[in-house]
Amino acid sequence: MVHSRLGFASVLGWVLVCAAIAACGDENSGSGGSGGNAGTGGTGGTGGTGGMGGTGGMGGAGGMGGAGGAGMDLVMTDADFDCILDWQKVRSFRVTNKLGNLDATLAAANDPGMSDYPVGTVIQLVPTEAMVKRAPGFSATSSDWEFFFLEVSDMGTKIVQRGVTDVVNQFGGNCLDCHAKALPEYDFVCEKGHGCDPLPIGDDVIQMAQNGDPRCTMP
Ligand code: HEC
Repeated sequence: MVHSRLGFASVLGWVLVCAAIAACGDENSGSGGSGGNAGTGGTGGTGGTGGMGGTGGMGGAGGMGGAGGAGMDLVMTDADFDCILDWQKVRSFRVTNKLGNLDATLAAANDPGMSDYPVGTVIQLVPTEAMVKRAPGFSATSSDWEFFFLEVSDMGTKIVQRGVTDVVNQFGGNCLDCHAKALPEYDFVCEKGHGCDPLPIGDDVIQMAQNGDPRCTMP
């Protein structure tokens, strides 16, 4: 289930990259040899993605999966989301790293524009929206960010929507459309002054929403 989702997203990413590169068709028809390489890379990481790479024509997608194989991926479930007040606060947002790499996440957060966020990073501004940094190759469109719209209560978290291109917030705004306007060095993180259209809520409302995260009062 999860693997096929990942595989599909990678393939989608490749197709988009493919559409942008004129020489793409040539590469595909180049040789079966490149497909073989991609399969090898895939064994390090997700079987699903590597497998698709192995099937010939989609050799490029397999190669991207191979890059992910060097490390880990973070496939969030309902239960992985928790009280954001327990996370580090950086300027307006809350941040954590679910793969144990908090130092690199905080380094990126504390020095905006100097480095991309590492895989495993979870960022939330309000309890109902999250950005999660997936393994390299998850999506070229979003620099591997997965967007989430969540339902939260004192019973926990329910993932309502997840993905790259189709997730919208409670105002009907598409996550990617806004966050893609951040200047490239900011890795899709909007904050203030990074180039995104502003949110229709101010810092006071954001702070209240964080403090009111109902998951923080779970027994
Ligand atoms: C209207 C444009 C817009 C839309 C639509 C939007 N965002 Fe944002 N988002 C912003 C802006 C601007 C900020 C920075 C707000 C601030 O710090 O004052 C932000 C902040 C965030 C942050 C904190 C990190 C950062 O980038 O500053 C996360 C996480 C986030 N948004 C996730 C989402 C998700 C998930 C969705 C879709 C469900 C979404 N956003 C939809 C504009 C948008």
